[in-house]
Amino acid sequence: MKFQIFLILGVVLCGFLGAIATPIELEESNDLESRFDPKSYLFDQLPKLTESSPTTRYYHFELKIIKLSPDGFERPVWSVNGQYPGPLIQANKGDRLVINVTNNLGDPATIHWHGIFQRETNWYDGVPGQTQCPIPNRVSFTYNYTLDQSGTFWYHSHFLAQYVDGLLGVLIIHDKEDPYLNYYDEEYVITVSDWYHSPSAPLLVQRVAPYYTGFNPYPDAALISGIGQYNCSAATAGLHCNSNVSPPTYNVQKGKKYRFRIINTSAYATFTFSIDNHPLKVIEVEGTPVKDVSSSVVKVLPIHIAQRYSVILTADQPVANYYIRASIIDSCLAARTNNTINYNSSINFNATGILHYNGADSNKPTSTAYSFTFPPCQDLNSSTIQPYKYSPAPTNVTNYFVFNVTSILNDDGVTLLGINGSSFIPIFNNPANQRIMLKENYTDFEENQNAYGYDIPNEAIQITLLNNQSANHPFHLHGHNFWIVAQGPGSTMANISTSKYNLKNPVIRDTTLVPAFSHVVIRYIADNPGVWAFHCHIEWHVELGLVAQLIERPTEFSNQTLPDDVRALCVEYNNYYKKQKRLTTTLPKDAIVKRVQIFRKVK
Ligand code: C2O
Repeated sequence: MKFQIFLILGVVLCGFLGAIATPIELEESNDLESRFDPKSYLFDQLPKLTESSPTTRYYHFELKIIKLSPDGFERPVWSVNGQYPGPLIQANKGDRLVINVTNNLGDPATIHWHGIFQRETNWYDGVPGQTQCPIPNRVSFTYNYTLDQSGTFWYHSHFLAQYVDGLLGVLIIHDKEDPYLNYYDEEYVITVSDWYHSPSAPLLVQRVAPYYTGFNPYPDAALISGIGQYNCSAATAGLHCNSNVSPPTYNVQKGKKYRFRIINTSAYATFTFSIDNHPLKVIEVEGTPVKDVSSSVVKVLPIHIAQRYSVILTADQPVANYYIRASIIDSCLAARTNNTINYNSSINFNATGILHYNGADSNKPTSTAYSFTFPPCQDLNSSTIQPYKYSPAPTNVTNYFVFNVTSILNDDGVTLLGINGSSFIPIFNNPANQRIMLKENYTDFEENQNAYGYDIPNEAIQITLLNNQSANHPFHLHGHNFWIVAQGPGSTMANISTSKYNLKNPVIRDTTLVPAFSHVVIRYIADNPGVWAFHCHIEWHVELGLVAQLIERPTEFSNQTLPDDVRALCVEYNNYYKKQKRLTTTLPKDAIVKRVQIFRKVK
């Protein structure tokens, strides 16, 4: 396979030359199934669910690499069922999802269900080395869990940077008690994302190369619902590229109201989102309905990686076409220095789509963009997104953690990231939660497991996150929502005044941006025994180790029963491992570069 050869060569080559920003060689991949001019299913109104609830919904995911051209530029895409974004999952609160995943990628893989609590099913959270072993190539594994929450979620691979290669999709959970049900007629989903023309492996190898002094790989495109427009004159001659991808188009009927669910599925980019002439009323943040106040109407919405909002759009403008705008905020990325991987990309930061009123012509919109004045590298103003229900922060805090975001120069000259001076390294074949179930004490874990534990049920945990870096870090907590009790400039404890904590009506969500040289203080309830990741959602930073593991109520968790197939998956994975002669079962601290090379060579 030419494509595999390219990857192997690319990985080896980049490994050696990693210290400089090597141009990525892309090659045609003729033997992969190919699809041109994709039309995203996300442009369709969400089909109404008809089953009476609670019901069990079955899905089959075949993970496979195919050629797709989301922005017109063809590249191999790590897909679910040959789609990018992957198939839509819709369910009602109370339903059960049974998702059988067959991995035909060549790489191991896992699927994480971002924002889903996984109460009593921690082993289906989909984090390799933390909650399960990776699913080897040619192996199937079934995720099976109930949904005791509702809102806008997504799923994505949690194995290396696979989601950056396309392995992700949308997960929507409806609730017949949603306070906003009668405020809109129809629903749509929009994803916004950065996009790379190179597969992630060679980028990652360069990113983690010794003595690399650049920043995160610069993206090539911005996408709306998996569609972008690339200027192909910038592409290497001979590669398939189409400059005329038709813009993502959402149809509305004048007089109707629409709920748009917006998800940022990026690897690296912060977006602003707006629709010309149409203010957006925010009604949901990451599963929590927000209060109906005048300030919840925004013209421009900032949305950070892995965050989600629902907004209501009223189609009350003259019948015409209007631009939908999703713009990467360049100033929230690190400087575009010429030692940064792909710094010379010809990205257009401003992706556009079209809001098309039924009856309008097919001419391009002539509408103009809203301007905005808010500081873009911050979360949406908290007054905009107060919880709908009075939900004060818990005050009975039993454990206080302080996490400093730190960079760490290892012995190989690789600048890693970590929590409190320790860079996380997953042990793929021995996930932390299975060690806990075997009654191993987390305090005996290796230092690089970044394990922080607590054993008192149903009281509050507080995490103070101090970001004394020039980079912004969108942090996500698995298995819980959290209350944001403080957020602001300054990255020392002296910058935080406990008397100023907002305990009365703090924002509740699962992903928050911690801007450069700033802090955030969050609280959550220890109501979910298991091992939960807490990490920066910039995928390049995950791979550099900016991850902690929260060991929640290990005593009770170790009394739960691990399903046989979850344990069996580790046996499969270990067998698979042994067949790959050069592989070791535990990953030495300084082996990140090797790890990428190894996993992408396994075919
Ligand atoms: Cu989107 Cu660890 O998650």
